Amino acid sequence: HKRTAILISGGGSNMEALVRSMTADHPARPVLVLSNDPEAGGLAKARKLAVPTFAVDHRPYGKDRVAFEAELSRILAAAKIDLICLAGFMRVLTPGFTADWKGRMLNIHPSLLPKYKGLHTHARALEAGDTEHGCTVHEVTADLDDGPILGQAKITIEPGDTPDSLAARLLPLEHRLYPAVLRRFAAGDKSPVYL
Ligand code: GAR
Repeated sequence: HKRTAILISGGGSNMEALVRSMTADHPARPVLVLSNDPEAGGLAKARKLAVPTFAVDHRPYGKDRVAFEAELSRILAAAKIDLICLAGFMRVLTPGFTADWKGRMLNIHPSLLPKYKGLHTHARALEAGDTEHGCTVHEVTADLDDGPILGQAKITIEPGDTPDSLAARLLPLEHRLYPAVLRRFAAGDKSPVYL
């Protein structure tokens, strides 16, 4: 099975969905949860799920992303990680790190990529007058929120929707999509999942 690390920065609800999905028959195992924020709520969640946790605070590294990532790499190597799932991990990764993990690192992004790379995706979908919105799981490459698409889930935008209402409606779909993609991907199947 693929030894999987989940990288988080926040509440870790996608992390929890991924960990819970990795049952005995699954081609991947949750080996560690790693946060750049020592206060991230997801760390306590992971400990409750009996998954080892690490925090590497990015702040002491300042602008030195390479040194920050070297510490991540050391932890990932020590745990013999095969596969990384970014799950609300809010640090941009350098081309060197993404090259090291080419074909072995997934991300979930709260938009229908290629639309709305980066931040504030729900507000941008509303401002554009879109009638649908969604989330995407993709392979991570050097360019932000780029890389081969492995799955998407859609919601309809309703009159009166706000960024918060969209986020709240989308999150449960993220929790279905990411585990569905991981299960396929860890078994070597890169064909996309559409929910
Ligand atoms: C999720 O909505 C995820 O798609 C998004 O952050 C949230 C994390 O929630 N990711 C990004 O915006 C990546 N740029 P969680 O910590 O509860 O999983």
